[in-house]
Amino acid sequence: MNGHPGGEAHTRRMITLAALPNGASVLDMGAGSGEAVDLLCREGYNARGIDLAPRSGDMVAPGDFLHLPYADASFNAVLSQCAFFVSGDVPGALREAHRVLKPDGTLMLSDVFFEAPAPVVEAAGFELLHLKDMTDAWREYYLGALWRGEDHGCALPRGKCKYWLIIARKV
Ligand SMILES: C[S@@+](CC[C@H](N)C(=O)[O-])C[C@H]1O[C@@H](n2cnc3c(N)ncnc32)[C@H](O)[C@@H]1O
Repeated sequence: MNGHPGGEAHTRRMITLAALPNGASVLDMGAGSGEAVDLLCREGYNARGIDLAPRSGDMVAPGDFLHLPYADASFNAVLSQCAFFVSGDVPGALREAHRVLKPDGTLMLSDVFFEAPAPVVEAAGFELLHLKDMTDAWREYYLGALWRGEDHGCALPRGKCKYWLIIARKV
C-alpha cells in the first residue's frame, strides 16, 4: 500500500485505535485504489469507498466526497487518508463526514494540516479521541516518492505543516 505515509501498518494502527465494533459500516473518503477498503473488509467490516478517480473495481464508487451521495447517519465510521487536504476544502470534507456518520460515529483521519488540527476537527462537531504527530513518516514517504519520480496527487505543501493521525467521535 503506497498511497499514504506508513502504508498498511498505518491504516491498521488507525483501525486498532478506533476500536470499531465487529461488522461496522465504514466509508473511505478519497479511497483511491481501494486498498484500505479491501483491508477493512478482510478485517470483518462492511466497507466501501468513494473517489473522484477510482482506481479499483467495485469497491470504490466514483464521486465527490464534498457532496456525498449517502443519506445522513449512514455509517458507523469514516476513514480518510491523504485526501481531505488535496480536495482543497478540509472543513467541507469534515462537514460531509459528520453528516453521514451515525451519532457517536468514528472518524479515522490522517492528513496534512497547516494549522493545529484540534480546533478544525472540533469545529466540525467532533470530539478528539487520539491525536498523533506523524510528520516524520510523512516526510520519509514524500521524499521517497519524489526520489522514485512518483506522483501521488498530493502537491508538496510549502511552509510549515504537519501530518496528523486523528481519531474522533461525532458529537
Ligand atoms: C493521495 S491520494 C490517497 C488515496 C488513498 N486514500 C490512499 O491512502 O492510498 C488522494 C485521493 O483523494 C481523491 N480525492 C481528492 N479530492 C476528492 C474529492 N473531492 N472527492 C473524492 N475524492 C477526492 C483523489 O482522487 C485521490 O485518489
